[in-house]
Amino acid sequence: MASVTATTDWHDWHLPYDDDTSPLSRRLRLIQRHINDWLDQRPDSSLRVVRVCAGQGHDLIGALAPRSDADRVRAELIEYDPRNVAAARMAISAARLDGITATQADAGDFAPYRTAVPADLVVLAGVLGNISDADARATIDALPRLCASDATVIWTRTRRHPDLTPAIRGWFATAGFTEEAFHAPSDMLFSVGVHSFHGQPQQAPPNGRIFTFTA
Ligand SMILES: C[S@@+](CC[C@H](N)C(=O)[O-])C[C@H]1O[C@@H](n2cnc3c(N)ncnc32)[C@H](O)[C@@H]1O
Repeated sequence: MASVTATTDWHDWHLPYDDDTSPLSRRLRLIQRHINDWLDQRPDSSLRVVRVCAGQGHDLIGALAPRSDADRVRAELIEYDPRNVAAARMAISAARLDGITATQADAGDFAPYRTAVPADLVVLAGVLGNISDADARATIDALPRLCASDATVIWTRTRRHPDLTPAIRGWFATAGFTEEAFHAPSDMLFSVGVHSFHGQPQQAPPNGRIFTFTA
């Protein structure tokens, strides 16, 4: 996967998705598989999804586009870079996913989640490796304010040394989540985790910091 620096161009960061064999594409297929599994397991006529730091929305848009039941999903993609928001909106429109909205906003604040929570699925991929360890913990602790009962969270984190994933998995448990899956391919640095929420959902405040994006 592309390395992240203080000058990362978050539009060009998505280019490896054009190569089916890239680590980013491999990670994408795992995330999409879990989005599909989640939707297959939920018979509800209406489901809410929040995509934190959505980028161009490849995971959610790509998973929903071929599905005949995509209209069951109301999703909010929250992304800061206007070029990525524009790309996501084009993909949403091309796939005729009327229930998905891409919003240009700081996903590190509670404010843009106001109309989108409580969510039945929170996709937190490409976030936990770009914030401080303390903010990674604070973000996981904040998830009960974003999640509905029985919600699922799909998350990713690089396992580059020092590997934070053992701590992350422990923080999920402390916050009331059960681990459903954890993929850590031996030839890859990425990991993909899936957790389900069985704790008590909490009211999200109208605003206030969850995390600050650092990379
Ligand atoms: C590592 S990329 C992941 C993109 C996407 N989640 C994916 O996995 O394909 C991080 C994304 O976060 C976006 N971003 C950075 N700071 C943000 C913020 N404060 N609020 C929302 N998005 C932010 C970047 O523009 C970039 O698209």
